[in-house]
Amino acid sequence: MKLPKIVLLGPPGAGKGTQGSLISEYFGIAHITTGNALRINRDLETELGTPGSFIDRGELVPDSIVNEIVEVEIKKASGFVLDGYPRNRKQAEYLSTISEIDKIIYLDVASEELIKRLSGRRVCSSCGENYHIEFRPPKKNGKCDLCSSELVQRSDDQEETILNRLRVFSEHTEPVLEYYINREGFVRIEGRDNPEDVWESIRKIFEEG
Ligand code: AP5
Repeated sequence: MKLPKIVLLGPPGAGKGTQGSLISEYFGIAHITTGNALRINRDLETELGTPGSFIDRGELVPDSIVNEIVEVEIKKASGFVLDGYPRNRKQAEYLSTISEIDKIIYLDVASEELIKRLSGRRVCSSCGENYHIEFRPPKKNGKCDLCSSELVQRSDDQEETILNRLRVFSEHTEPVLEYYINREGFVRIEGRDNPEDVWESIRKIFEEG
């Protein structure tokens, strides 16, 4: 079977990480998440600054840094789900020069819901597992269910930075939607429902072909 090459688009907090993991597991394909790759390399010195300095302000990390990360990962994978890339039109155009794409899934969620999801998100400081204080609480307060390490808040999940990330999304990433919307393989999914129902909608799309 030919493994699919999928782009997962959506505003901050739409559930790209959550659904990206499920898609990756379902097909046995790579989950390429630029946000995680950049957080791991947050202190890397480049002539444009460190990735962390952009992330903490909720700004986009420069294209040259991100494109390189994505190209390396894509070349290693026969199938993948790209989470958090492309995030502006230039990145979308660059992607079209390095890989074909079979499906583009847009997770649509209203801004008020996004703010609630991001401000309540907690992540494991060791294994990176994702939680939410209300929607997906850990079994033991403040501790990861998988490895018992401490749960922390992401540096860019403070309210002021969240608002900037939403502004950056509408300015830079909405044009990516316009780029893909009339292409074969584009689907819009209602991302407001609970994670299981959102996953059911995504799974159906693949089953229906
Ligand atoms: P990145 O890590 O990609 O962050 P993001 O796009 O802002 O998305 P998030 O990870 O915050 O949310 P998500 O959509 O994955 O939702 P999640 O599943 O976690 O990027 C961070 C930064 O890196 C950027 O700001 C930028 O600086 C830089 N960067 C990354 N890519 C870049 C690029 N291509 N170019 C330039 N710079 C780049 O869910 C969120 C919360 O909601 C969780 O707590 C979860 O449990 C909960 N949740 C999920 N789904 C549901 C649901 N259906 N119902 C209720 N709760 C839910």
